[in-house]
Amino acid sequence: MKKFVTALIVVMVMAGCAFSETVKLPAPDKTCSMTLTEALTFRRSDRDFDDEDLTLQELSNLLWAAGGVNRPDGKLVYPVAMGIQDITIYVFGREGVFKYDPKSHSIELVAEGDHRKDTGKQDFVGKAAVNLAYVHDLGMWKDSKAPEEVVRRCGFAHTGEIVQNVYLYSAAMGWNCVVRMSFDAESLSKLMKLSDTQNITLIQTVGVKP
Ligand SMILES: Cc1cc2nc3c(=O)[nH]c(=O)nc-3n(C[C@H](O)[C@H](O)[C@H](O)COP(=O)(O)O)c2cc1C
Repeated sequence: MKKFVTALIVVMVMAGCAFSETVKLPAPDKTCSMTLTEALTFRRSDRDFDDEDLTLQELSNLLWAAGGVNRPDGKLVYPVAMGIQDITIYVFGREGVFKYDPKSHSIELVAEGDHRKDTGKQDFVGKAAVNLAYVHDLGMWKDSKAPEEVVRRCGFAHTGEIVQNVYLYSAAMGWNCVVRMSFDAESLSKLMKLSDTQNITLIQTVGVKP
């Protein structure tokens, strides 16, 4: 219970930083006892969750698997059109809403408090350890000549790649997971302080099995 909160607060106190500051995540543990084909076999949507939090290490591993940097040149675990990294992953946990920066492998607080239940009407969203919200930024394409319709398509493609990474990683860790299109984009965008060019594409709930 409350493993992530406790671990996060301990790390922040040790770092002597205020709650509003960025938290550097521990290096991701990339070991895994399950094979890729086993993870593909176990991949599924499951909406039953325990209320147990993830540890900071588990959150670090999950975010890296979802959309972390996997090469020295800063490229990611998923492919992006024209090299434009236009998706930002937001984490809704018990202690707040955080924005993930893959380059520094850190999370930055954007809203204090437990807003997990605000990510959707389905009852499990407020109970599962985290909800990951994927945010596409049209503004990242401002210097390209790509038509907006193509840019939006790329945003959904990139989101889908992250979604499958999270499904497979969750299967490998024995966690439950479900991706969702049902959420109130307007109210969440305000809470997350998104700009006019940013849109939430999908939200994915991840947590420990009951
Ligand atoms: C784009 C997309 C949106 C979805 N939205 C929801 C949702 O809002 N709520 C939900 O419970 N499941 C949602 N799902 C999960 C699907 O219901 C689920 O993937 C489908 O039933 C197939 O089951 P499986 O994932 O176990 O193969 C969504 C799936 C996708 C791909």
